Amino acid sequence: MDSLYIQFEHELNRFNTTNKSITSVFIGGGTPSTVEPKLYEKLFARLKPFLANDVEITTEANPNSASTTWLKGMKKLGCTRVSFGVQSFNDTKLKFLGREHTSQQALKAIQAAHDIGFEHLSLDLIYATKMDTKEILEDDIKTAFSLPIDHISAYALTIEENTLFAAHPEVAKEKLELTTFFIDSIKNKGFEHYEISNFGTYQCKHNIGYWELDDYMGVGSGAVGMLKNKRFYPSTDIDNYIKNPLDIRTEDLSMEDLKTEKIFLGLRSNVGININALSSSEKKQVDILLRENKVNQIKNTIYNTDFLLSDEIALFIQS
Ligand SMILES: C[S@@+](CC[C@H](N)C(=O)[O-])C[C@H]1O[C@@H](n2cnc3c(N)ncnc32)[C@H](O)[C@@H]1O
Repeated sequence: MDSLYIQFEHELNRFNTTNKSITSVFIGGGTPSTVEPKLYEKLFARLKPFLANDVEITTEANPNSASTTWLKGMKKLGCTRVSFGVQSFNDTKLKFLGREHTSQQALKAIQAAHDIGFEHLSLDLIYATKMDTKEILEDDIKTAFSLPIDHISAYALTIEENTLFAAHPEVAKEKLELTTFFIDSIKNKGFEHYEISNFGTYQCKHNIGYWELDDYMGVGSGAVGMLKNKRFYPSTDIDNYIKNPLDIRTEDLSMEDLKTEKIFLGLRSNVGININALSSSEKKQVDILLRENKVNQIKNTIYNTDFLLSDEIALFIQS
Protein backbone atom coordinates (compact mmCIF):
# COMPACT_ATOMS: atom_id res chain seq x y z
CA MET A 1 0.00 0.00 0.00
CA ASP A 2 2.96 2.38 0.53
CA SER A 3 3.32 2.89 -3.24
CA LEU A 4 -0.34 3.90 -3.29
CA TYR A 5 0.23 6.55 -0.60
CA ILE A 6 3.32 7.88 -2.35
CA GLN A 7 1.34 8.33 -5.57
CA PHE A 8 -1.69 9.68 -3.70
CA GLU A 9 0.37 12.47 -2.07
CA HIS A 10 1.88 13.23 -5.48
CA GLU A 11 -1.57 13.52 -7.06
CA LEU A 12 -2.96 15.64 -4.19
CA ASN A 13 -0.20 18.13 -4.98
CA ARG A 14 -0.57 17.83 -8.75
CA PHE A 15 -4.31 18.56 -8.50
CA ASN A 16 -3.71 21.28 -5.91
CA THR A 17 -6.52 19.61 -3.98
CA THR A 18 -8.40 21.85 -1.56
CA ASN A 19 -10.61 20.94 1.40
CA LYS A 20 -14.07 19.56 0.63
CA SER A 21 -13.34 19.69 -3.15
CA ILE A 22 -13.62 15.97 -3.93
CA THR A 23 -17.25 15.23 -4.92
CA SER A 24 -16.90 11.54 -5.76
CA VAL A 25 -14.58 8.61 -5.13
CA PHE A 26 -14.65 5.32 -7.04
CA ILE A 27 -12.88 2.23 -5.69
CA GLY A 28 -12.57 -0.13 -8.63
CA GLY A 29 -10.13 -2.66 -9.89
CA GLY A 30 -9.29 -5.43 -9.64
CA THR A 31 -11.63 -6.65 -6.96
CA PRO A 32 -11.97 -4.25 -4.01
CA SER A 33 -14.04 -6.82 -2.08
CA THR A 34 -10.95 -9.01 -1.68
CA VAL A 35 -9.17 -6.22 0.22
CA GLU A 36 -9.93 -5.94 3.93
CA PRO A 37 -11.58 -2.62 4.85
CA LYS A 38 -8.93 -1.90 7.48
CA LEU A 39 -6.33 -1.67 4.71
CA TYR A 40 -8.26 1.33 3.35
CA GLU A 41 -8.39 3.15 6.72
CA LYS A 42 -5.18 5.17 6.29
CA LEU A 43 -6.28 6.21 2.77
CA PHE A 44 -9.72 7.32 3.96
CA ALA A 45 -8.19 9.21 6.91
CA ARG A 46 -5.93 11.10 4.46
CA LEU A 47 -8.86 11.69 2.08
CA LYS A 48 -11.29 12.95 4.76
CA PRO A 49 -10.49 16.71 4.74
CA PHE A 50 -10.75 16.82 0.94
CA LEU A 51 -14.18 15.17 0.74
CA ALA A 52 -17.27 17.29 -0.01
CA ASN A 53 -20.09 16.90 2.54
CA ASP A 54 -22.32 15.09 0.00
CA VAL A 55 -19.47 13.07 -1.51
CA GLU A 56 -20.45 9.92 -3.39
CA ILE A 57 -18.12 7.03 -2.55
CA THR A 58 -18.59 3.94 -4.71
CA THR A 59 -16.91 0.62 -4.20
CA GLU A 60 -17.12 -2.19 -6.69
CA ALA A 61 -17.76 -5.63 -5.25
CA ASN A 62 -17.81 -9.23 -6.40
CA PRO A 63 -20.73 -11.23 -4.92
CA ASN A 64 -18.46 -14.09 -3.85
CA SER A 65 -16.13 -11.90 -1.78
CA ALA A 66 -18.49 -9.14 -0.59
CA SER A 67 -19.13 -10.60 2.86
CA THR A 68 -21.36 -8.88 5.40
CA THR A 69 -18.25 -8.05 7.44
CA TRP A 70 -16.60 -6.49 4.40
CA LEU A 71 -19.74 -4.51 3.53
CA LYS A 72 -20.05 -3.26 7.13
CA GLY A 73 -16.38 -2.25 7.07
CA MET A 74 -16.74 -0.30 3.79
CA LYS A 75 -19.90 1.40 5.09
CA LYS A 76 -18.07 2.44 8.27
CA LEU A 77 -15.29 3.96 6.12
CA GLY A 78 -17.90 6.18 4.45
CA CYS A 79 -18.86 4.33 1.26
CA THR A 80 -22.31 5.42 0.06
CA ARG A 81 -22.69 3.15 -2.97
CA VAL A 82 -21.86 -0.43 -3.89
CA SER A 83 -21.67 -1.61 -7.49
CA PHE A 84 -21.99 -5.41 -7.65
CA GLY A 85 -20.46 -7.26 -10.58
CA VAL A 86 -23.40 -9.68 -10.92
CA GLN A 87 -23.38 -10.13 -14.74
CA SER A 88 -26.38 -12.52 -14.65
CA PHE A 89 -28.65 -14.34 -12.18
CA ASN A 90 -28.56 -17.42 -14.42
CA ASP A 91 -25.98 -19.86 -13.04
CA THR A 92 -25.39 -21.52 -16.43
CA LYS A 93 -24.67 -18.10 -17.96
CA LEU A 94 -22.35 -17.24 -15.05
CA LYS A 95 -20.34 -20.39 -15.75
CA PHE A 96 -20.40 -19.55 -19.46
CA LEU A 97 -18.95 -16.11 -18.58
CA GLY A 98 -16.30 -17.74 -16.40
CA ARG A 99 -17.64 -16.06 -13.23
CA GLU A 100 -16.92 -17.76 -9.89
CA HIS A 101 -19.98 -16.56 -8.01
CA THR A 102 -23.53 -17.99 -8.00
CA SER A 103 -26.83 -16.16 -8.35
CA GLN A 104 -27.61 -17.04 -4.72
CA GLN A 105 -24.41 -15.33 -3.57
CA ALA A 106 -25.37 -12.23 -5.58
CA LEU A 107 -28.90 -12.11 -4.11
CA LYS A 108 -27.52 -12.57 -0.58
CA ALA A 109 -24.77 -9.93 -0.92
CA ILE A 110 -27.09 -7.26 -2.36
CA GLN A 111 -29.75 -7.87 0.29
CA ALA A 112 -27.04 -7.73 3.00
CA ALA A 113 -25.77 -4.40 1.64
CA HIS A 114 -29.31 -3.04 1.82
CA ASP A 115 -29.84 -4.33 5.36
CA ILE A 116 -26.53 -2.73 6.40
CA GLY A 117 -27.96 0.58 5.18
CA PHE A 118 -26.14 1.44 1.94
CA GLU A 119 -27.98 4.35 0.28
CA HIS A 120 -27.22 3.40 -3.31
CA LEU A 121 -26.94 -0.11 -4.73
CA SER A 122 -26.11 -0.92 -8.34
CA LEU A 123 -25.56 -4.15 -10.21
CA ASP A 124 -23.88 -4.93 -13.50
CA LEU A 125 -25.44 -7.22 -16.09
CA ILE A 126 -23.80 -8.48 -19.27
CA TYR A 127 -25.83 -9.09 -22.45
CA ALA A 128 -25.11 -9.80 -26.16
CA THR A 129 -23.65 -13.21 -25.41
CA LYS A 130 -24.08 -16.29 -27.62
CA MET A 131 -26.27 -18.04 -25.03
CA ASP A 132 -28.69 -15.13 -24.51
CA THR A 133 -32.39 -15.75 -25.02
CA LYS A 134 -35.36 -13.48 -24.35
CA GLU A 135 -36.24 -15.71 -21.37
CA ILE A 136 -32.74 -15.49 -19.81
CA LEU A 137 -32.67 -11.67 -20.19
CA GLU A 138 -36.25 -11.35 -18.93
CA ASP A 139 -35.42 -13.43 -15.83
CA ASP A 140 -32.27 -11.39 -15.16
CA ILE A 141 -34.31 -8.17 -15.21
CA LYS A 142 -37.14 -9.63 -13.13
CA THR A 143 -34.65 -10.81 -10.48
CA ALA A 144 -32.70 -7.55 -10.58
CA PHE A 145 -35.83 -5.50 -9.92
CA SER A 146 -36.84 -7.82 -7.06
CA LEU A 147 -33.81 -6.35 -5.26
CA PRO A 148 -33.44 -2.97 -3.45
CA ILE A 149 -31.34 -1.37 -6.21
CA ASP A 150 -31.52 2.13 -7.73
CA HIS A 151 -29.08 1.60 -10.60
CA ILE A 152 -28.19 -0.97 -13.28
CA SER A 153 -25.23 -0.99 -15.64
CA ALA A 154 -25.86 -3.19 -18.67
CA TYR A 155 -22.85 -3.98 -20.82
CA ALA A 156 -22.78 -5.69 -24.21
CA LEU A 157 -20.12 -8.40 -23.98
CA THR A 158 -16.95 -7.21 -25.73
CA ILE A 159 -13.97 -9.39 -26.57
CA GLU A 160 -10.88 -7.84 -24.99
CA GLU A 161 -7.31 -8.87 -25.79
CA ASN A 162 -5.48 -11.07 -23.31
CA THR A 163 -8.73 -12.13 -21.66
CA LEU A 164 -10.52 -15.45 -21.27
CA PHE A 165 -12.63 -14.81 -24.36
CA ALA A 166 -9.89 -13.56 -26.67
CA ALA A 167 -9.55 -17.07 -28.13
CA HIS A 168 -13.34 -17.52 -28.37
CA PRO A 169 -14.73 -14.33 -29.97
CA GLU A 170 -17.86 -16.24 -30.95
CA VAL A 171 -19.13 -16.04 -27.34
CA ALA A 172 -20.10 -12.41 -28.00
CA LYS A 173 -23.19 -12.27 -30.21
CA GLU A 174 -25.28 -9.11 -30.40
CA LYS A 175 -28.82 -9.41 -31.73
CA LEU A 176 -30.38 -5.94 -32.10
CA GLU A 177 -33.84 -7.29 -31.29
CA LEU A 178 -32.59 -8.73 -27.94
CA THR A 179 -30.55 -5.60 -27.17
CA THR A 180 -33.57 -3.37 -27.73
CA PHE A 181 -35.76 -5.73 -25.68
CA PHE A 182 -33.22 -5.67 -22.80
CA ILE A 183 -32.86 -1.89 -22.78
CA ASP A 184 -36.61 -1.23 -23.10
CA SER A 185 -37.37 -3.72 -20.32
CA ILE A 186 -35.07 -1.87 -17.90
CA LYS A 187 -36.54 1.51 -18.92
CA ASN A 188 -40.10 0.16 -18.57
CA LYS A 189 -39.28 -0.58 -14.93
CA GLY A 190 -38.82 3.18 -14.37
CA PHE A 191 -35.02 3.38 -14.56
CA GLU A 192 -33.90 6.38 -16.64
CA HIS A 193 -31.49 5.48 -19.47
CA TYR A 194 -28.91 8.23 -18.82
CA GLU A 195 -25.94 6.67 -20.64
CA ILE A 196 -25.57 3.93 -23.23
CA SER A 197 -24.81 1.33 -20.47
CA ASN A 198 -26.32 3.02 -17.42
CA PHE A 199 -29.85 3.21 -15.99
CA GLY A 200 -31.29 4.33 -12.70
CA THR A 201 -33.49 6.36 -10.45
CA TYR A 202 -30.07 7.42 -9.16
CA GLN A 203 -27.34 8.64 -11.53
CA CYS A 204 -23.70 7.92 -10.65
CA LYS A 205 -21.93 11.27 -10.07
CA HIS A 206 -18.52 9.72 -10.68
CA ASN A 207 -19.39 8.34 -14.10
CA ILE A 208 -21.13 11.56 -15.16
CA GLY A 209 -17.91 13.38 -14.22
CA TYR A 210 -16.02 11.19 -16.70
CA TRP A 211 -18.53 11.89 -19.45
CA GLU A 212 -18.32 15.64 -18.79
CA LEU A 213 -14.51 15.36 -19.02
CA ASP A 214 -14.17 16.75 -15.48
CA ASP A 215 -10.77 16.47 -13.80
CA TYR A 216 -10.30 13.21 -11.95
CA MET A 217 -7.41 11.77 -9.98
CA GLY A 218 -6.34 8.20 -10.64
CA VAL A 219 -4.44 6.45 -7.83
CA GLY A 220 -3.20 2.89 -8.22
CA SER A 221 -1.68 0.63 -10.84
CA GLY A 222 -3.43 1.37 -14.14
CA ALA A 223 -5.74 4.01 -12.57
CA VAL A 224 -5.87 6.72 -15.24
CA GLY A 225 -6.20 10.37 -14.13
CA MET A 226 -7.04 13.57 -16.00
CA LEU A 227 -6.32 17.23 -15.31
CA LYS A 228 -7.44 19.80 -17.90
CA ASN A 229 -5.82 18.65 -21.18
CA LYS A 230 -3.44 16.11 -19.65
CA ARG A 231 -4.07 12.42 -18.98
CA PHE A 232 -1.88 10.43 -16.63
CA TYR A 233 -1.19 6.70 -16.90
CA PRO A 234 0.39 5.00 -13.86
CA SER A 235 2.11 1.71 -14.69
CA THR A 236 -0.27 -1.18 -15.33
CA ASP A 237 2.53 -3.56 -14.36
CA ILE A 238 1.81 -4.08 -10.65
CA ASP A 239 5.42 -5.00 -9.77
CA ASN A 240 6.73 -1.91 -11.52
CA TYR A 241 4.02 0.22 -9.89
CA ILE A 242 5.01 -1.03 -6.42
CA LYS A 243 8.68 -0.16 -7.15
CA ASN A 244 8.04 3.10 -9.06
CA PRO A 245 4.58 4.50 -8.21
CA LEU A 246 5.59 7.80 -9.80
CA ASP A 247 6.49 6.16 -13.11
CA ILE A 248 3.48 7.84 -14.72
CA ARG A 249 3.17 8.46 -18.46
CA THR A 250 1.55 11.77 -19.44
CA GLU A 251 -0.55 12.28 -22.58
CA ASP A 252 -1.16 15.84 -23.82
CA LEU A 253 -4.58 16.20 -25.40
CA SER A 254 -5.09 18.85 -28.08
CA MET A 255 -8.22 21.02 -28.12
CA GLU A 256 -9.36 18.88 -31.10
CA ASP A 257 -8.81 15.66 -29.07
CA LEU A 258 -10.84 17.08 -26.20
CA LYS A 259 -13.63 18.17 -28.52
CA THR A 260 -13.81 14.76 -30.18
CA GLU A 261 -14.01 13.07 -26.76
CA LYS A 262 -16.69 15.52 -25.61
CA ILE A 263 -18.75 14.75 -28.73
CA PHE A 264 -18.45 10.96 -28.31
CA LEU A 265 -19.11 10.98 -24.55
CA GLY A 266 -21.83 13.62 -24.80
CA LEU A 267 -23.79 11.62 -27.39
CA ARG A 268 -23.42 8.38 -25.41
CA SER A 269 -25.04 10.01 -22.36
CA ASN A 270 -27.53 12.65 -21.24
CA VAL A 271 -24.62 15.11 -20.94
CA GLY A 272 -25.11 16.10 -24.60
CA ILE A 273 -22.80 18.41 -26.53
CA ASN A 274 -22.52 22.21 -26.39
CA ILE A 275 -23.35 23.57 -29.86
CA ASN A 276 -21.01 26.53 -29.32
CA ALA A 277 -18.04 24.16 -29.12
CA LEU A 278 -18.66 22.95 -32.68
CA SER A 279 -17.18 24.27 -35.94
CA SER A 280 -19.46 25.64 -38.66
CA SER A 281 -19.20 22.44 -40.71
CA GLU A 282 -20.05 20.37 -37.60
CA LYS A 283 -23.03 22.64 -36.97
CA LYS A 284 -24.21 21.98 -40.56
CA GLN A 285 -24.07 18.23 -39.83
CA VAL A 286 -26.07 18.79 -36.65
CA ASP A 287 -28.73 20.69 -38.63
CA ILE A 288 -29.18 17.60 -40.83
CA LEU A 289 -29.48 15.38 -37.72
CA LEU A 290 -32.00 17.78 -36.16
CA ARG A 291 -34.15 17.66 -39.32
CA GLU A 292 -34.01 13.83 -39.14
CA ASN A 293 -34.85 13.85 -35.39
CA LYS A 294 -31.69 11.88 -34.70
CA VAL A 295 -30.81 14.52 -32.12
CA ASN A 296 -32.72 17.26 -30.38
CA GLN A 297 -31.69 20.67 -29.04
CA ILE A 298 -32.50 22.28 -25.70
CA LYS A 299 -30.97 25.77 -25.38
CA ASN A 300 -27.30 25.37 -26.46
CA THR A 301 -27.13 21.63 -25.89
CA ILE A 302 -27.59 18.87 -28.48
CA TYR A 303 -28.92 15.58 -27.12
CA ASN A 304 -28.84 12.17 -28.78
CA THR A 305 -32.24 10.43 -29.10
CA ASP A 306 -30.83 6.88 -29.55
CA PHE A 307 -27.70 5.92 -27.60
CA LEU A 308 -27.20 2.81 -29.76
CA LEU A 309 -26.41 5.12 -32.70
CA SER A 310 -24.14 7.44 -30.69
CA ASP A 311 -20.78 6.53 -32.27
CA GLU A 312 -22.18 6.70 -35.82
CA ILE A 313 -23.73 10.11 -35.09
CA ALA A 314 -20.45 11.36 -33.58
CA LEU A 315 -18.54 10.25 -36.68
CA PHE A 316 -21.16 11.89 -38.92
CA ILE A 317 -20.88 15.22 -37.06
CA GLN A 318 -17.10 15.21 -37.50
CA SER A 319 -17.13 13.86 -41.10
C1 LIG B 1 -17.13 -1.03 -15.89
S1 LIG B 1 -16.94 -1.56 -14.34
C2 LIG B 1 -18.44 -1.31 -13.55
C3 LIG B 1 -18.76 0.15 -13.20
C4 LIG B 1 -20.12 0.24 -12.49
N1 LIG B 1 -21.14 -0.29 -13.33
C5 LIG B 1 -20.56 1.61 -12.05
O1 LIG B 1 -21.46 2.16 -12.64
O2 LIG B 1 -20.06 2.16 -11.12
C6 LIG B 1 -16.79 -3.37 -14.32
C7 LIG B 1 -17.86 -4.11 -15.09
O3 LIG B 1 -17.50 -4.14 -16.49
C8 LIG B 1 -18.23 -5.23 -17.09
N2 LIG B 1 -17.32 -5.96 -17.95
C9 LIG B 1 -16.16 -6.55 -17.61
N3 LIG B 1 -15.61 -7.15 -18.69
C10 LIG B 1 -16.47 -6.96 -19.73
C11 LIG B 1 -16.49 -7.33 -21.11
N4 LIG B 1 -15.49 -8.05 -21.66
N5 LIG B 1 -17.52 -6.96 -21.87
C12 LIG B 1 -18.51 -6.21 -21.34
N6 LIG B 1 -18.58 -5.81 -20.04
C13 LIG B 1 -17.56 -6.19 -19.26
C14 LIG B 1 -18.73 -6.15 -15.97
O4 LIG B 1 -20.12 -5.99 -15.86
C15 LIG B 1 -18.01 -5.58 -14.76
O5 LIG B 1 -18.78 -5.79 -13.58
